Amino acid sequence: MKYREFGKLGIKGSAFGLGCMRFNGEASGDTIIDEQKAISLIRRAIDGGVTYLDTAYVYLDKTSEIVLGKALRDGYRERVTIATKMPMEYVHNREEMQALLDEELKKLQTDHIDFYLMHGINKEKWEYFKSIGADVFFEDMKRAGKIRYKCFSFHGPYEDFEYVIQDYDWDMVQIQYNFMDVNNQAGTKGLELAGRLGIPVVIMEGLLGGRLAKAPENVQALYDAFPVKRTPVEWAFRWLCNHPQIATVLSGCNEAEQIDDNLRIFDTVEPNIMSDDELKLMDDVRAAYVSRTKIGCTACRYCMPCPGGVDIPGVFAAWNNMSLYGTDPKQDWNMQQIRAHDAGADRCLACGACQRACPQHLPIIDSLQAAWSEMGMRD
Ligand SMILES: NC(=O)c1ccc[n+]([C@@H]2O[C@H](COP(=O)([O-])OP(=O)(O)OC[C@H]3O[C@@H](n4cnc5c(N)ncnc54)[C@H](OP(=O)(O)O)[C@@H]3O)[C@@H](O)[C@H]2O)c1
Ligand code: SF4
Ligand code: SF4
Repeated sequence: MKYREFGKLGIKGSAFGLGCMRFNGEASGDTIIDEQKAISLIRRAIDGGVTYLDTAYVYLDKTSEIVLGKALRDGYRERVTIATKMPMEYVHNREEMQALLDEELKKLQTDHIDFYLMHGINKEKWEYFKSIGADVFFEDMKRAGKIRYKCFSFHGPYEDFEYVIQDYDWDMVQIQYNFMDVNNQAGTKGLELAGRLGIPVVIMEGLLGGRLAKAPENVQALYDAFPVKRTPVEWAFRWLCNHPQIATVLSGCNEAEQIDDNLRIFDTVEPNIMSDDELKLMDDVRAAYVSRTKIGCTACRYCMPCPGGVDIPGVFAAWNNMSLYGTDPKQDWNMQQIRAHDAGADRCLACGACQRACPQHLPIIDSLQAAWSEMGMRD
């Protein structure tokens, strides 16, 4: 395992951070997942060198923190740093913030949280957090030793990121970033701005939630033609870790094999190690993905809810899956949800509300009709 600098904090953390959002299996214990399996995955990662664990109040129906707390018994807590988050929807004043933090400490079975994040904010949510005094609350909790670092995770346009990151004395930021998202959300500009400010960056969705682990055939052909053979996961993580601003790359693993694979990969990655040929390969891979992508929907859900009841990001995800991977829309998980909830593109009222809200400025109305037609849903 490689360990990397956390910007101005003067500490180091493991290059691979375990995300605790994607555990699965049959419900057991106090959680909605297979608790013993999750505990064993968490301990396997720590025994392999992982020192950074990421969870949140809302993950896994509010049970992710519970299972992480159990996994960190028996001396594991002392070996790691924990990141968890405060969700905007659950707090309206200082008393509720205090109660929520205390509940998280209890579930995590610890007396302090290392990285405490305002969860998934943009400019509007940050203004809300300030209006209820969250900025002061975080400072007070840091002084009281209940949290070590004041942080935020971000989902929104770059303009929001530029504003939020410079509007407060943040210790760390977590962004969505991967070789496809260079111009999306905070993007490369945001990563570089954080670097200039000395604020360490933690990465989420480095594999786009797993989508970059499975290369479509035109992408696989590029990887196969390169003289050095690496898996799609290895290329994606290698590209991320090439950026010196990045402290830790989170990945949510559901299987021991994925943990072991990531432990192997993160033992080989360093900042600034990619050759010009490797960087050119990743540019070509990005272009190959884009050529097969029907629409650049990032599933940010700014357009939701739709007054007509259309699951807009779901329709676009199924359309992209059909084009990228040849997934039969009738077998696509998104489309199965859409059909179960009668949330298809045929319910669009052409009111235009979604197009005004979309940060990607997508032509949603026409694209929904094209998607529905190409996926054979009019038949
Ligand atoms: N703050 C926020 O707003 C926010 C938002 C999203 C995520 N997060 C956090 O960030 C963490 C990381 O994001 P993420 O889970 O989306 O990360 P990710 O690395 O983009 O996706 C994780 C998925 O990638 C696949 N995967 C991982 N390692 C693999 C390997 N070696 N080989 C093949 N497939 C592999 C698995 O997919 P399969 O399950 O399909 O096999 C896994 O579920 C989350 O767990 C969560 O803790 C935070
Ligand atoms: S234009 Fe159609 S898809 Fe967009 S918000 Fe209105 S009804 Fe929903
Ligand atoms: S259509 Fe636009 S607003 Fe809606 S989820 Fe996709 S990117 Fe976000």
